[in-house]
Amino acid sequence: MTEPGTVLITGPTRNLGRRAVLAMADRPDGRRPDLLLVGRAGRDLTAVADEARAHGATVREIGCDLSRLADVRAAADTARELLAAGAVRPLRALVANAGTMSTDTRQASPDGYEMTFAVNFLAHAQLVGDLLDSFTAPARVVLIGSNTYHANFWRRLLGVAEAKWTDPVELARPAAREQAPSMAASGVAYSNAKLAILYYAHELQRHVGEGITVSVFEPGWMPGTALGRGAPAAAQAMSRALGRVPGVSTPERSGPLLASMALDDKWAHLRDGAFVVKTKLTEVQPVAHDRERERRLWEATAELLERAGASGS
Ligand SMILES: NC(=O)c1ccc[n+]([C@@H]2O[C@H](COP(=O)([O-])OP(=O)(O)OC[C@H]3O[C@@H](n4cnc5c(N)ncnc54)[C@H](OP(=O)(O)O)[C@@H]3O)[C@@H](O)[C@H]2O)c1
Repeated sequence: MTEPGTVLITGPTRNLGRRAVLAMADRPDGRRPDLLLVGRAGRDLTAVADEARAHGATVREIGCDLSRLADVRAAADTARELLAAGAVRPLRALVANAGTMSTDTRQASPDGYEMTFAVNFLAHAQLVGDLLDSFTAPARVVLIGSNTYHANFWRRLLGVAEAKWTDPVELARPAAREQAPSMAASGVAYSNAKLAILYYAHELQRHVGEGITVSVFEPGWMPGTALGRGAPAAAQAMSRALGRVPGVSTPERSGPLLASMALDDKWAHLRDGAFVVKTKLTEVQPVAHDRERERRLWEATAELLERAGASGS
């Protein structure tokens, strides 16, 4: 078994991320990784860090608002410094878990990008890019996808719209002021960001060395997490009710599965953005494999991140 080293995870404060952190911290000595927790600074971040420490893990909190790319760059710098100083063991995995579903697609991040695209996709592209030279092989990048990128039963039931792809520079642009917020627009933005993650995962594998492998985890639909916190009360109530349907996923069940993706030998063979739904390696729909979109996303992402960096925001 590969020495577990350090796992960096975003969005450790709640639900899926929190449960994954605790599952990793709960592993026995020798199989327990050190943890770099990247999340908004505050009580929740400290609480999960303390809980993980209570299990015996070495933990560092890195305060970061992922909607602000300057914060993301600073978080990567901090992670690099901790690794270089030997404060934590070598970096073996990055789990890009944080996510949001903005209810108003007119909302811009501090860098001027549509909020869902900024947090779910751009922040993680920045973080992964900044840390690529800091991994110790064999290392894993685990991104978090969602089946909402294409039409499926749950998506239809919940009314989350499927992705409508367009040029990534357009996807990054907040909606026009006169466009009234809607669940449909919010769902499209979320699904587009998740489709972007699949395209990015495929392209990322082509750009990194053999020592880093890229996979995408889908936790299953977990009703009642904070992801839907901005949805209308009726939608939240329906989500809670559907959550009682047997077999529906929960952070308690899916968190340890995500931890396994980052650490366990059983997933060491995953690469090329392999898509795992809970425990099942799954072929993505044909729409999620598109070399031209993947190439263009890579190029546009570099432009968008550079633009934010140049403006110093
Ligand atoms: N719930 C589902 O049914 C479902 C299904 C498929 C995929 N997923 C994916 O699974 C992942 C986790 O989802 P979840 O349901 O656990 O969501 P959640 O309860 O909303 O938790 C999201 C996490 O992301 C963090 N986050 C959001 N915006 C941030 C920002 N600007 N800066 C820093 N951290 C930020 C949150 O931090 P705060 O505590 O500071 O808000 C929280 O830790 C997401 O990528 C989501 O898209 C979820």
